[in-house]
Order: sequence, then structure tokens, then C-alpha cells
Amino acid sequence: MKESTLDAKRLRQVAGCFPTGVTVLSVHTPDGSVHGMTASSFLSVSLTPPLVLFSVMNENQLNSYLEVGAKLGISILNENMEGVSNHFAKIALLEEAPVFVDRNEAPVLEEAHAWYATTVEQLIPAGDHVLVLCRVEALDANLADNPLVYYQGYKNIK
Ligand SMILES: Cc1cc2nc3c(=O)[nH]c(=O)nc-3n(C[C@H](O)[C@H](O)[C@H](O)COP(=O)(O)O)c2cc1C
Repeated sequence: MKESTLDAKRLRQVAGCFPTGVTVLSVHTPDGSVHGMTASSFLSVSLTPPLVLFSVMNENQLNSYLEVGAKLGISILNENMEGVSNHFAKIALLEEAPVFVDRNEAPVLEEAHAWYATTVEQLIPAGDHVLVLCRVEALDANLADNPLVYYQGYKNIK
């Protein structure tokens, strides 16, 4: 194994050696629409109280809607939702925007593999990202399908 050097490209490469699921984080915006952003930095933090965490790049638009007390939905994507992931990462927009439904005032994707309805509890600056700690208010999962996995690209776990 080569010695590590801490340039951005290498950091991204090595961080990409850790497989994750894929989520869409979503909030209601002041103009009455929903803003969604694809994120793989999701982490379950605490059971009592129920807390989850993710990190958002400072310059991402989602950041402008994040404040303590905001209602935020987290949708875990299923294996058929690669297009949805690319849509909310602005890689390739779908012709028909995915549908959100409200759970405890937080928008979540209707077709999600699993979802959390949360309230933003803390925003913690962390380099070029902000860590967003959220309290879980409600949640559910569709255990009949499989999650979408991200590891050097999208993977199917079957
Ligand atoms: C699989 C995948 C995972 C991603 N994970 C994150 C993440 O955890 N945090 C983040 O800030 N951006 C992440 N991104 C990038 C954002 O989705 C992308 O920059 C998006 O266009 C930002 O949207 P916004 O500026 O409209 O909020 C990810 C993208 C992909 C494809």
C-alpha cells in the first residue's frame, strides 16, 4: 500500500473506499416548493434521544434552507432510484420530478426504501462542510425492496 498524501483528490479517492447508502435530504422552501439534495454522508448517531447526522458542502443550495428547528426529510433510496439520485445531485435531471409527501411536516420521497421525518437540532461548522444533527420525529421502511448502494459508483447488492 502506498504512503498517504493529503491532497483533495486522494482524500476523495480513499473516502470512496467506504460503501454507503444514498439518501435525498429535503426541505420545504419559502416559495412553497421542496428542495432536495442527494447525500451519502448519512449516519445514525443516537437512540436516546434519536439523532442522525449528515454533512453538507457550504456552497450547496440546501445550506441556505437549513436552520435550527427546520423540518427536514431524509429518504433512503431503493435500488431502482439511481435516476432520482442523479436528479437531486444535478447530474441528470428527470423529465418528471420525483414526488414528495409530507410526514410530520417534513417532505420525504413517496417511493423511498425508508424515510425519517426530522427537526434540525444543531448546525456544526466543519471545514468546507456543515454537520447537520437532526432529531428523528417519525420513520418507516419498506423492507420489501433493496437499498441503493454507492461504492465507486452505484451498486446493486443482490
Ligand atoms: C452519491 C452522491 C452522494 C453525495 N453526497 C453528498 C453529501 O453527503 N453532502 C453534500 O454536500 N453533497 C453530496 N453530494 C453532492 C450533491 O448532491 C450535489 O452537489 C448537489 O447538486 C447539491 O445540490 P444543491 O446545491 O441544490 O443543494 C452527493 C452526490 C452524489 C451523486
